[in-house]
Amino acid sequence: MTTERYRFFDQNPILPNVIEEIRQGLRESPKRISPKYFYDEHGSALFEQITDLPEYYLTRTEIGILDEYKEELSQIIDKSCCLIEYGSGSSRKVRLLINAIAPRFYVPVDISREHLDQSARAIHDDFASLHVYPTCADYTQTLELPDVIDGAPRCGFFPGSSIGNFERDDAARFLTNLRRDIGPGGHCIIGFDSRKPKTILEAAYNDTKGVTASFNLNLLSNLNRTTGTDFDPSGFRHQSFYNETLGRIEMHLVSKTTQNVTLDGETFHFANGETIHTENSYKYSLDEVKALAHKSGMSFIKHWEDSQAWFYVVLLRVPDAAESDVG
Ligand code: AVJ
Repeated sequence: MTTERYRFFDQNPILPNVIEEIRQGLRESPKRISPKYFYDEHGSALFEQITDLPEYYLTRTEIGILDEYKEELSQIIDKSCCLIEYGSGSSRKVRLLINAIAPRFYVPVDISREHLDQSARAIHDDFASLHVYPTCADYTQTLELPDVIDGAPRCGFFPGSSIGNFERDDAARFLTNLRRDIGPGGHCIIGFDSRKPKTILEAAYNDTKGVTASFNLNLLSNLNRTTGTDFDPSGFRHQSFYNETLGRIEMHLVSKTTQNVTLDGETFHFANGETIHTENSYKYSLDEVKALAHKSGMSFIKHWEDSQAWFYVVLLRVPDAAESDVG
């Protein structure tokens, strides 16, 4: 029996061998680099700026939905549950939920140790009766939750259309793991960006101020600093477009000339116009959300949306042990 209100759980997630990962991606054709390398300090600040752009409707729309329906949400989700947030970069949204639901525990899960500790302490300081147990782990791998939360009903929270960064199959794998984390009878709240006309989507990822372009290009500066590559960011330009068939925004960096880049003694050639694929951001129809829930062994309870149906906040539930035939 513990009463401590703050404890940091470190699962010592295995950090990727960045140089090796980048090398593999640059050897592929087309070349690719994971979007996780956007988020160094400058990249995270640029992303914050993106969320304030008039064209980038996602963040403000999701917050609007959560704010409008928080009362209804709080009637479904157990007060004194354990709220588990996957990736903890969304302080504003989770504060809104904590205020509405009044959970007993808050377990933010993130791979970035310092950032996690800082933001979790801030939440601890602001909510006088909340038990905060930050867990440093890679949420795409299997989680071991702190045993101090044993017995509390669980609610997962994965906002921001972060799920859109997964390939559709990987999204189902992620949700299957999440289902195991929250257990029978548990709930989860997930933010999905909806499929919508190309013009609206492309504006959101091609803002007129060029912040998204800087965000995309910053990836190269980050790699130069962390892996010793010698990318010339001014030799590349930002490109993003909606791939309607696959229902995803694709971001690329396009080489403006023929050029070479070296990494750890290996030279990578870029033809003029050759691209590096840096991000997919998948969009979901409601039918696709429901199919994904089903595939992950969860029940679709309901969803809330804004007046234009640009964003969905989705509530799923893990069937009780007896209802479920999914292993
Ligand atoms: C943080 C992955 C949800 O896909 O909209 C914003 C990242 N990329 N602008 C998204 C992003 C370009 C964002 N996610």
